[in-house]
Amino acid sequence: MAVVKKLHPKWFDNFATSTSIPFDLKIHSGFVAEDKGKIIGFLTFTSDEGKARISWMGVKPKFHGKSTGTSLLKALEKELKNIGLKELRVETLSELTEYEPYEKTRLFYKKMGFKVESTKKIKSKDKGEMLYLATLVKNL
Ligand SMILES: CC(C)(COP(=O)(O)OP(=O)(O)OC[C@H]1O[C@@H](n2cnc3c(N)ncnc32)[C@H](O)[C@@H]1OP(=O)(O)O)[C@@H](O)C(=O)NCCC(=O)NCCS
Repeated sequence: MAVVKKLHPKWFDNFATSTSIPFDLKIHSGFVAEDKGKIIGFLTFTSDEGKARISWMGVKPKFHGKSTGTSLLKALEKELKNIGLKELRVETLSELTEYEPYEKTRLFYKKMGFKVESTKKIKSKDKGEMLYLATLVKNL
């Protein structure tokens, strides 16, 4: 949650920070990245009817661009391949909703080999505005 707080409100809104993430983190599995004994990044995942997806992922802003996200994702991919899963999904803000911070997030997932599978329009649980959410998929 210390990492989440550093990503609020730019990437994680009030509802995600106060409600969605704290509950999901108690239930979902995950990995953390450490620097000098302190957690600087995390990735959680879950599965529904045999389909694995990243639920939450974040790296403290001052550590962005230093391969922490890549390491977290590689750890997850290794585990999923061992289980025998062939695909990994993640939902993120679509390019149809213009918001600069998530351009970087999309570039990250693109570099990691994810492709857009579908896009849906949703109502934000935070402020109620309409957003486009993309489901990205990567073959493992
Ligand atoms: C997305 C996030 C987890 C990536 O973690 P990271 O440790 O910064 O990523 P990495 O350093 O491993 O980057 C890997 C590649 O992604 C791309 N990338 C990452 N950040 C980028 C940026 N700001 N601009 C352009 N490309 C970027 C690059 O291609 C990079 O490879 P390179 O360094 O060889 O060029 C991190 O930026 C983050 O916490 N963002 C805010 C929260 C968020 O968006 N979470 C996901 C919600 S779905």
